[in-house]
Amino acid sequence: MKFEPHNLLITGGAGFIGSNFVHHWLANSHQGKVVVLDALTYAGNIGNLADVENDPRYLFVRGDICDEPAVGALLRQHQIDTIVHFAAESHVDRSILGPDDFIRTNVVGTHSLLKAAKALWIDQKGVPAHRFHHVSTDEVYGSLGPDDAPFTETTPYAPNSPYSASKAASDHLVRAYHETYGLHTTVTNCSNNYGPFHFPEKLIPLTIVNILLGKTLPVYGDGLQIRDWLHVEDHCAAIALALQKGEPGEVYNIGGNSETTNIHIVRTLCDLVDRQLGAHPEHRDFFPASPIFNGKQAIQLITHVRDRPGHDRRYAINYSKAARSLGYSPARDIRSGLASTVEWYLQQVDWWQGLLGRDYATWLEKNYDGQFGQPRQAP
Ligand code: NAD
Ligand code: TYD
Repeated sequence: MKFEPHNLLITGGAGFIGSNFVHHWLANSHQGKVVVLDALTYAGNIGNLADVENDPRYLFVRGDICDEPAVGALLRQHQIDTIVHFAAESHVDRSILGPDDFIRTNVVGTHSLLKAAKALWIDQKGVPAHRFHHVSTDEVYGSLGPDDAPFTETTPYAPNSPYSASKAASDHLVRAYHETYGLHTTVTNCSNNYGPFHFPEKLIPLTIVNILLGKTLPVYGDGLQIRDWLHVEDHCAAIALALQKGEPGEVYNIGGNSETTNIHIVRTLCDLVDRQLGAHPEHRDFFPASPIFNGKQAIQLITHVRDRPGHDRRYAINYSKAARSLGYSPARDIRSGLASTVEWYLQQVDWWQGLLGRDYATWLEKNYDGQFGQPRQAP
C-alpha cells in the first residue's frame, strides 16, 4: 500500500538514529512538518539537530513519550499523520545495571504513544490516512549459533537482556494495536547501527574516542561475538522506504550484510585511526596521548575484560523481505563505513568532547565498578 507521510512526529529525534533520520528526511525535500519529541536524557543531544534548526518545516519539543495527554495534544495541534518511534533506552549494559528505565520508556512509553495515536487516528478519525512506524532491533530474536540461518521476520522471539525484552514487549504491543484496533503500523527490526552522532558508550564510537585519548579498549570476553553492522544512513533509507511502501501490520528485518566479530571491528578501527593520525601529524596537538604519537600502535590498547552477562554470541539478519517488498539494499560496506565514521569523529571533536564532560566519565567509572567489564586475563 503506497502511503505519503505528511506531518511527522519523530520520537527520540535527538538521539543517534533519530537525529540521522531527521537529517535524512529533511534532505530528501519532503513537504510537511517534522516535529521532534525528545526528553533529552543522557543519550539525547539537541546539538545533533543544530544543522536543521532554521528549517521552517522543523520543530523541537522537549517532552516524555510517557506523557500521553501531551503527546495527544501535539498530534492534534500539528495534524500529525505519521509517527516514527525511535525514543528508547538503548544500551544493553545500562539495562543490566538498571532495567527500570527500560521498562518505563520502552514498554510503557510505547504504549502511551499507541494510545494517543489510536485516540486521534482511529477513535476520532482525525486524519485521512496514518502510519505508526516502530523502530526495533534484531536483539528480540536472541542469539544464533555459528551455523544457524540468519533471523527472518518469523524467527521466534527469545530476548536475553532486559533491553531486548523491553523492545520485544513493545513490538508485541504495536502488533496488538494493529490486530485489535486496526492501527496502521509497520515495524523494522534492524541490526547494530554505526555512523555519525553515535554516543560514545557503544562499541564503535567508544573505541574511536578511546584510541584518540590513549585509553584502553575494553573487549568483552574473547571478542568473537558477531554483529551484522548497518550504517545508520542505510538504516534511515530503509525506514523511509518502509513508511512509503510498507504494508500495515508488516514487519521488515533490516541488515547491513556485514557480519563481523567485535575484535575485528576494534582492530580495524585501530588500523584506521593510526593511519589517519599518521597521515595528519597536526592532530598531535589535539590527541597527544594517542599511541601513534607515542611510538606505539592503537592495537596495544586492546584489553580483554570480563564478559557481559547473558551476552548474545551472534546476530545475523536476512533482509530478503525488505529487499523484495521495499526495494531495500544496504549501500555501504563495513570497511568504507568505518573509515568515514573515523573521519567524522576526527572532524567533530567538539561534539564528542562536549559529551565527555556530561556523562562519559561517569559511565566509564560505572562500567568498571566490578559488576562486569573488569580487566581479566586474555583467553
Ligand atoms: P539513543 O539512545 O541514541 O537515543 C534515544 C533517544 O530517545 C534520546 O534522544 C533520548 O533522549 C530519547 N528518549 C529516551 N527516553 C525518552 C522518553 N521517555 N521520552 C522521549 N524521548 C526519550 O538510541 P538510538 O541508538 O538512536 O536508537 C533509536 C531506536 O533504534 C531505539 O528504539 C533502539 O531500540 C533502536 N535500535 C537501535 C540500534 C542501534 O544500534 N543503536 C539497533 C537496533 C535498534
Ligand atoms: P554495543 O555497541 O553495546 O551494542 P549491542 O550490545 O546492542 O550489540 O556492543 C556491541 C558489541 O560489542 C557487543 O557484543 C558488546 C561488545 N562490546 C565490547 O566488547 N566492549 C565494549 O566496551 C562495548 C561497549 C561493547
